[in-house]
Amino acid sequence: MTGARGLRMVHALCVGLLTAVVAACSGEATVTQPIAFNHKIHVTDEKIPCTDCHVGAEKDVHASLPSLSRCLLCHMKPQSNPPNPREQRVRELAASREPVRWTQVTRNPGHVYFSHRAHVSLAKMPCRDCHGDVASWTEPPTKPVQALKSMGACLSCHRDEGASTACATCHQ
Ligand code: HEC
Ligand code: HEC
Ligand code: HEC
Ligand code: HEC
Ligand code: HEC
Repeated sequence: MTGARGLRMVHALCVGLLTAVVAACSGEATVTQPIAFNHKIHVTDEKIPCTDCHVGAEKDVHASLPSLSRCLLCHMKPQSNPPNPREQRVRELAASREPVRWTQVTRNPGHVYFSHRAHVSLAKMPCRDCHGDVASWTEPPTKPVQALKSMGACLSCHRDEGASTACATCHQ
């Protein structure tokens, strides 16, 4: 993380955590994904770049979530011997021909415009500054990250970085 920017995000994350605790107590639903995907195995051990799976993260508005065909590039065949049952699930779902739909856990309401390209490619911000240490995630997140859904957190960085704070920048 870059110094001041990092601190601001840490502050925003703390506020986010508080909000998350409140949300948990008020019974916000938790998300379950079709496969217990493990970022640590794929990013840290297998060294797969984020953008191999989140293909829009540098050039589009949406980072996007991968289709099963991307997983099957490796998982057509068992990746360990003996096959690991959690990994076997990828082939079972492929054989069932049911489309695999990931749920986007952190999602802003439709009136908010956020662009990955503007932050990742133009402002040169690493994924970690906003999403934290994804490379250590061993399970999918089940609750939204409140700091990424907070107008206050967006605005405070925009003010500090000299980016636009006009309403129409984020509400179109
Ligand atoms: C091999 C494919 C793959 C790679 C590589 C990968 N991801 Fe993911 N990512 C996924 C899948 C599948 C999901 C949905 C399931 C889940 O949440 O674990 C996901 C979910 C996410 C989410 C949660 C989005 C939400 O709110 O629902 C974030 C953030 C994310 N990835 C960031 C990253 C970052 C940053 C990297 C690189 C450090 C990375 N991913 C590398 C496949 C991948
Ligand atoms: C400036 C902060 C910021 C940075 C930097 C950032 N993201 Fe995001 N990301 C967000 C926000 C905010 C959302 C929620 C967007 C929404 O509301 O739809 C999000 C959503 C996502 C999602 C959910 C799926 C989607 O299509 O949006 C994935 C996956 C993701 N980011 C991956 C990445 C990766 C990989 C990187 C680095 C290459 C990255 N992000 C960099 C803020 C950021
Ligand atoms: C570049 C090759 C590659 C790609 C692409 C890939 N994986 Fe994997 N995956 C592996 C390897 C290697 C392992 C470790 C095998 C083991 O030890 O069981 C693994 C392990 C797994 C496991 C077992 C994890 C555990 O908890 O034991 C699951 C589930 C899995 N992958 C799902 C996915 C999904 C879903 C995708 C697509 C979003 C994907 N993989 C993409 C190579 C890949
Ligand atoms: C940590 C700093 C930081 C955070 C947090 C941040 N932004 Fe930004 N944002 C920037 C910077 C810097 C730019 C200017 C990028 C450029 O054009 O060079 C920018 C640009 C933008 C743009 C202009 C894109 C364009 O096409 O001109 C939009 C829209 C935007 N941000 C929305 C958001 C939203 C919504 C959030 C919160 C969910 C957010 N930002 C959070 C730093 C941040
Ligand atoms: C840098 C991005 C950004 C800018 C600039 C921005 N907003 Fe927002 N705004 C957001 C985000 C993100 C949310 C979603 C927060 C949530 O869901 O609670 C939001 C939510 C809102 C909401 C809904 C609040 C609610 O309780 O649901 C209103 C109203 C709003 N903004 C008005 C404005 C006005 C008026 C301006 C200009 C003075 C403005 N916004 C500028 C990012 C921005």
